[in-house]
Formats: sequence, C-alpha cells, structure tokens
Amino acid sequence: MKYFRYDKSTISYNFDRASETYGASDCIHHNIAKDVLGFVVSRCCVDCLYDKSILEIGCGTGVLTSLILENLYPIQMICNDLSERMLGCVTKQHQGIFTICGDAEDIDFPFCNLVISSMAFQWFNDLYATVRKIKDNANIMVFSMPVFGTFCELYQMYDRYGLEFKSVLHEYEDVKRKMLMEFAGNAVFCDRRQYSMKFASLKCFYRYLWMIGANYNIHNIAQNDLVAMIMDNDNEFTTCYDVMFCLVHNL
Ligand SMILES: C[S@@+](CC[C@H](N)C(=O)[O-])C[C@H]1O[C@@H](n2cnc3c(N)ncnc32)[C@H](O)[C@@H]1O
Repeated sequence: MKYFRYDKSTISYNFDRASETYGASDCIHHNIAKDVLGFVVSRCCVDCLYDKSILEIGCGTGVLTSLILENLYPIQMICNDLSERMLGCVTKQHQGIFTICGDAEDIDFPFCNLVISSMAFQWFNDLYATVRKIKDNANIMVFSMPVFGTFCELYQMYDRYGLEFKSVLHEYEDVKRKMLMEFAGNAVFCDRRQYSMKFASLKCFYRYLWMIGANYNIHNIAQNDLVAMIMDNDNEFTTCYDVMFCLVHNL
C-alpha cells in the first residue's frame, strides 16, 4: 500500500510565491492566531510565559509572531519556516529575531520554554514523531491546525461531480486521543473551533487558497474538471475551517 506523503518542495514553492499575497487576502488566520494566544494564556500562569525563550514553527508572514512580541515579551524569539520568503517578511517587520529556515520535521531545534505554532502542523508527513521531538525540547508546546471537516463543502461538491478527492487532514478525535496517550505524564488540553468564511463564488475561494499558498491539493484535480466546476458555481460559496487547538505542559 502506498502512503500519501507531501512533496516539501511543492509546499515551499507555494508559500514562497504566496509570501507577497498572504497579507492582502482577508485571512482568517489572524483570528486563529489570536485564539492560539488566548488558548495558551488562559491555561498557563504568567510566570511560565513572560520573558521566556519562544520558538514559533511555520511562522509564515508573522501574523502570530507580532502578537507574541506584543503580548509575551520573549527574551529570545526564534522563528522557523520552510519558506525563505515567508521568513523574510518576518525579519522585515521585526528586529532581533533569530530565524531557522527549513523543514521542522528535519530540524533539531534548540531548547525553548515555549514552542508555538498556528496553522502549520497540517503540512507534516509524520505529525506524531514531529510533535514528540518538539515537545522533548520545550516546557510548553501549543499549536493550532485545521482538522478533517475543514472545507467539507468543497469535498461534497467534488463528490457531486464524481471527482475523487482525498483529504489528508487528521480527525480531531484521533489526534486528541493520541496526544493524551503520548503525553500521559503531562497536562494536555485540546479544543476545537470553527471559522466560517463566505466567498462571492467558488472561483474567489480558489483565488483565496492560491493567495495564501494553500493550493497544494488542487494539483490533483484535472484542469477541465476544475474549470467546469468553477463555471457551474458562480454563486456565493460558504465554507469553514475546523481548527484544533492543543497544548502540552510539563507537570
Ligand atoms: C498557513 S501558513 C500559516 C502561517 C502563520 N503561522 C499564520 O498563522 O498566518 C503555514 C506556514 O507553514 C509553513 N510550513 C509548512 N510546512 C512546514 C514545515 N514542514 N516546516 C516549517 N514550516 C512549514 C509554510 O511555509 C507556511 O508559511
């Protein structure tokens, strides 16, 4: 049996290209980043969070980075991303940040008090091995990522058109169960929230995915099928991100 594996050079290419348009899109990631920060602040004491070393994984253009700097005053801030151009957007905005460019699945990061990430772990090929490695090198790890249920209106539409589209997103309950088992000796908190989005048409939704670099799976659909679907669906298209939040804290 052949297992699905992301091609990291395609992911990196998509996000490099999107680094210039990411900020221009009406991006729900701002709201999710705020909620990641709220999630960690509400579950950890002030002493655990302020004036600490913080590593952010998959920082993108720095949506969450800015919130961290404004609210947690880290003594050291390290930003990681697979895309060099995304990292460039962050260093342009903020001084004194250390950057580590590359695949978080392959990198041995230095120890940090807090490791944080928003909307990046869904791109890992081996989520659990990577999460284990990251947590071994931190007091607190917190992340958000879209889970199965995200863009389900799109998959339903593919079904109606007889197109095969396999979601590679994890099931919320699976991840929650595995995190609780893996980190049984730690405090583990999981939560889930949905973020609805409305687009003028299916075409606008695809444009949004392209602008934020999240167009990886579209390569699987034949061009003429895609065009037919877009032409047929030029009315309002509503969909949502189904997002998991997870925090692991040393006891
Ligand atoms: C959807 S963006 C989210 C960016 C930012 N955290 C936000 O909330 O706006 C996902 C980011 O994760 C990065 N990424 C994807 N796979 C990665 C990996 N294996 N290691 C490091 N970064 C990765 C991408 O380059 C991209 O910048």
